Amino acid sequence: MKKFLITTAIDYPSGRPHMGHAYEKICTDVIARYKRLKGFSVHFSTGTDEHGMKIQRCAEKEKKTPQQFVDDMVVYFRQLCEVLNISNDDFIRTTEPRHKKTAQEIFSIIHRKGEIYKSTYEGLYCVDCETYYQRKDLVNDKCPVHATEPDNFSEESYFFQMGKYREMLIERIKKHADFIRPESKRNEILSRLKEPLKDLSVSRTSFDWGVPVPIDEKHVQYVWMDALINYLSTVGWPGKKSEEFWPTAVHIIGKDIVWHHTVIWGSILMAAGIHVPKVFVHGFVNMKGQKMSKSSGTVVDPIELVKKYGADPLRYFLISEIPFGEDGDFSEESLVERNNGELLNNLGNLANRILTFIYNKNAGTVSKPRELGVADKKMVKLIGSYPAKVSKLMDEFNLQGGLDEVMRLAKEGNEYFQEKAPWKNDYSNCLYIGANLLRSLAIMLGPFVPESAERMWEYLNLSGSVHEQDWESAKELAVKAHHKIKEPAPLFRKF
Ligand code: MSP
Repeated sequence: MKKFLITTAIDYPSGRPHMGHAYEKICTDVIARYKRLKGFSVHFSTGTDEHGMKIQRCAEKEKKTPQQFVDDMVVYFRQLCEVLNISNDDFIRTTEPRHKKTAQEIFSIIHRKGEIYKSTYEGLYCVDCETYYQRKDLVNDKCPVHATEPDNFSEESYFFQMGKYREMLIERIKKHADFIRPESKRNEILSRLKEPLKDLSVSRTSFDWGVPVPIDEKHVQYVWMDALINYLSTVGWPGKKSEEFWPTAVHIIGKDIVWHHTVIWGSILMAAGIHVPKVFVHGFVNMKGQKMSKSSGTVVDPIELVKKYGADPLRYFLISEIPFGEDGDFSEESLVERNNGELLNNLGNLANRILTFIYNKNAGTVSKPRELGVADKKMVKLIGSYPAKVSKLMDEFNLQGGLDEVMRLAKEGNEYFQEKAPWKNDYSNCLYIGANLLRSLAIMLGPFVPESAERMWEYLNLSGSVHEQDWESAKELAVKAHHKIKEPAPLFRKF
């Protein structure tokens, strides 16, 4: 079986999960579910990044030990995955022994290769992004991401000779168009690499909440030198599973951590002699064009939102509203609008019309088709052609485009039903083709709205789970005449 490894960034559990965390998990989940339908054996991992100064400070504020603090907080991140129907195969925490072992092993390998030396770090550090800055990177002397003043520190530190990987990174980026996507991010990194690349401080001594440096227990590993390695720990590197999965890896991350995932991670892997994976960068979910923030009162709790609307309306909204790779806006009004206008009026209406007609007017059985007319033939052709059309977009990670296409097929279905007017004409072909159209839609909608797709499958009374089907079979007319369906219920609610 073909393998596919897909990961999200691992979240800082410094506060409760927010919309950005939900968005990244949903997009990655859509891809993972799609790949499974395409016949891949998928390993999909997400998790939490639990070490570092930021977490230690948050724990101190709450008078908890860091371990206690992250143990309490991680509950919400797991809950987020659950309520959003995220199909992750692993949830990795950087405080787990399996991860610490891998993180230390990578450090040791690079050290053995002579790529790590001891010196003193003197300079600026933003604790919120756990990132070193040079004065020229600051905006009005503040961190360009958090607009806070970075800390100034000076301490003994181990350095990784990242500087020597500049040429190799540039070469790799130029040679592999899919190393960093979308292209705008690729160009951004190439442009930053025009400047000399500094060596990276990879250990800290002023606090101890981290993975101990294997060659010197006075130091803990720099949090990114720890966190990035989770991608290897999740597939049990080194071992059979990682051998099979690692060459297929794609990291899905937000635009603020592209440098870390391409330049830092790329050079660490090159130094360790390990394949450098692909990175796909998504945009930010904003509110009224502004970054969501506690201070401006624009932080939305995704868990509360799911309680109110359910997971599918939120998943649908985020994917259809925001082009994958670009920024977009969250608003509850637009969520409601898309739910009522698209899920309920287009998809829900179609499913409801076809299923209740079969159930009430044809004793719950799919009718036997007669000779197909022009409209019937057109609909059969559409069912046959959409899976390939949607696949083409999904393979390029155009999730919004893929979902749009599937919804267009539902719209075609509504027009077909209207034209056939089964309430006054012979309805045999309409019900037969209609049931097959719903089956096809259920398979293709599975990655986007998993719960609703499964319910469509259930009402159609088809065997197994919609999520275990073969994508290609969505083009077939697999629901046969005389097949009995179950009593249907509305798929969506009006808000
Ligand atoms: N812990 C690091 C990642 C380490 S990965 C080896 C981190 N954590 S984070 O909690 O700050 O962010 C986790 C992910 O959420 C990142 O990919 C980040 O870009 C993404 N988002 C954070 N805020 C976001 C939005 N408002 N919108 C969309 N995604 C954003 O960075």
